[in-house]
Amino acid sequence: MKFRERYIFDSAKDFIGKGGFAKVFRAYDTIRKRYVALKFYAGTESEKYDIISEINRMDNLAHPNLIRYYDATFIDSVNAIGEKEQIQVGIMEFANAGDISLFFKKTQPTELTRQVILDILSGLAYLHENGIAHRDMKPKNILLSEENGRLTAKIADFGISKKVEAGEDASVSSQLLGSVEYMAPEQFAPAVYGIAGKLGTNADIWSLGIILYEIFTARLPFGSRTKGITYEQILNNILFQDLDIDYNAVPEPYRSVIRRCLVKNAAQRAQSANELIAIIEGKTYQDTCQQRRETNRYIAQPEYPHRPTPKQDGQQRWRYAYTEPIGAKQR
Ligand SMILES: Nc1ncnc2c1ncn2[C@@H]1O[C@H](COP(=O)(O)OP(=O)(O)OP(=O)(O)O)[C@@H](O)[C@H]1O
Ligand SMILES: [Mg+2]
Repeated sequence: MKFRERYIFDSAKDFIGKGGFAKVFRAYDTIRKRYVALKFYAGTESEKYDIISEINRMDNLAHPNLIRYYDATFIDSVNAIGEKEQIQVGIMEFANAGDISLFFKKTQPTELTRQVILDILSGLAYLHENGIAHRDMKPKNILLSEENGRLTAKIADFGISKKVEAGEDASVSSQLLGSVEYMAPEQFAPAVYGIAGKLGTNADIWSLGIILYEIFTARLPFGSRTKGITYEQILNNILFQDLDIDYNAVPEPYRSVIRRCLVKNAAQRAQSANELIAIIEGKTYQDTCQQRRETNRYIAQPEYPHRPTPKQDGQQRWRYAYTEPIGAKQR
């Protein structure tokens, strides 16, 4: 079956958005009878990005607060100068309610805000417990899904970690991604701010602090390019300036959470999302870890239908037997 027969979409009406690497569309999967998101990695840019590795790394990971990858493939295309090229396409869970920027209006600490923040922290804790650092946590990568009147936040895009692990200069990756506003100091200067000179999973905790601050104040503490501040200035602020943070503008318990996130030195910053969940829920760190271990056991229960190891065949196609995200049934 041809790709465009299986996935039906209108390139104008179903266009969701465009980032540094890719264009995203909503499409209807005629076989699985559900909406999916298709992410097309454009031309030469996609050479810097390896969706297959990203998906392989996420294999066997499933969590209600992470966008689920269903499959990836290559499709043939013709570029602007008439050359044939192959485009990588990621096929993933479609989040039907936009991204979390709708919360960026000096949000009040409602039950919904609390739930959304706990969702993000749960997804992040699960990623980190599985040894994956996101490294591009920003509002556009935190999506919302509405099901039966209930909103769930889901983290998307786990692609950058491989490149950093492969030894590429962290600042090069960051520039490629172009979301400097949310990046941790050690992503640019690991020797100065990293843990033992390295970039760890709690770089994501810094980014989360920026996102939370933005949720409650509609401001970015180190400046924003949408407000005319240059990339270099923001970078300079992150690395060398004291934080321009009005903690009083943030209600508790989020004020305490942000204080644990926005610590320049990664070794002194909160080490895990569980620590932040504990603050929000008013529990001890130990109780939170125990509770999360039980939840994770449920998510990763052995009777959860088994997904075979991914194979790559001669046509560079990659797929696995997809099973419904278990989180959807739990909630
Ligand atoms: N699975 C999805 N469901 C719904 N919307 C999505 C999905 N994945 C991405 N989007 C939206 O599509 C748009 C483009 O996403 P994309 O990941 O290509 O870029 P980005 O996250 O904005 O930036 P970058 O390229 O720097 O990661 C964003 O607005 C994003 O919120
Ligand atoms: Mg994205």
